[in-house]
Amino acid sequence: MLISVIAADITTLAVDAIVNAANETLLGGGGVDGAIHRAAGPALLEACRALPPVAPGVRCPTGEARITPGFALPARWVIHTVGPVWHGGGGGEADLLASCHRNVLRLARERGLRRIAFPAISCGVYGYPAPLAARVALGTLREELATHPDFELILCCFGEPMRAVFQAALDEVA
Ligand code: APR
Repeated sequence: MLISVIAADITTLAVDAIVNAANETLLGGGGVDGAIHRAAGPALLEACRALPPVAPGVRCPTGEARITPGFALPARWVIHTVGPVWHGGGGGEADLLASCHRNVLRLARERGLRRIAFPAISCGVYGYPAPLAARVALGTLREELATHPDFELILCCFGEPMRAVFQAALDEVA
């Protein structure tokens, strides 16, 4: 299956790259961002700090992605992306969330990476309703796979309820 949905802690996956749901500073945070930094070790924060700011306090604008090594993680790379904060859906949130997924895979292709695991970007602190986010994520990943079939993509959800939501979205686009 070119796209699979699992319930797991993304920091445990030995894949080519795991995706981090970061914020624009790329200096860590809570949620999956905090878990990835804890598991990768302090070298990850140093690598993020070394990334050039594109604006004061901004190393990765919303919708874009940046790549660093995975350091102590079983994954070789971390692709950091910044999802949109949910403000009701009228502020281009869906397009920004789709951009996150497309930009992550663009960076993966540039490095010849194939097995990529995504968390449920924006579905935590950023408040994006999971069923809507899942539809955007799975729809975008299916489009990408149509032109780049050699990817193996994993939606790594934290817990069964979120896994069920993303599996339902995958069933819709399969
Ligand atoms: N593995 C997989 N998924 C996880 C893990 C983990 N170890 N820990 C949390 N998650 C899940 C959450 O349960 C949620 O479904 O990741 C999803 C994304 O939630 P957040 O981590 O809160 O990310 P997001 O909603 O994109 O908010 C980003 O939160 O941590 C800060 O620095 C981050 O400011 C940024 C904001």
